[in-house]
Amino acid sequence: MNEKVAMLLNEQINKEFYSAYLYLDIANFYTKKGLDGFANWYEVQAKEEQDHAMLMYRYLQNNDQQVTLETIAKPDAVFETLVDPLKVGLAHERYVTSLINTIYDAAQEAKDFRTTQFLDWFVKEQGEEEKNSMDQITKMELFGEDARSLYMLNSELGTRVYTAPSLVL
Ligand code: FEO
Repeated sequence: MNEKVAMLLNEQINKEFYSAYLYLDIANFYTKKGLDGFANWYEVQAKEEQDHAMLMYRYLQNNDQQVTLETIAKPDAVFETLVDPLKVGLAHERYVTSLINTIYDAAQEAKDFRTTQFLDWFVKEQGEEEKNSMDQITKMELFGEDARSLYMLNSELGTRVYTAPSLVL
């Protein structure tokens, strides 16, 4: 495997585990606010992020590459309003999309088509994650001020159930 592609994928393992950590912190915030549905949604999201990391970990191993696990940064966003974590989440997903695109670009340059094919799943997943974040912000801005609507939104987010990723290596 091209050295730069392998290095970027290895770094991305760390970024995905950081994403899990960030979302767990968001779930922690909502739990303290009594919004267990929001907390559930972000706990499920944290599990998905761990899956993303593990897919990259396994992909590198399957391709005879060295995996190096680095320190995971502390999530230090400060949330004041109920919509703040959702905005932090969207900004973070947009950042992750840019990272995936950078790896894709490097793989394409190296004519590493196995990796571009592997990353296709992540490109699509990023589109879904950004849309989920945007939808949550829109709903929160429309209904979040009204206690009854907030209760319903919380109930809706509480129904999210974890499912393992559809990508099989
Ligand atoms: Fe692993 Fe939220 O992208």
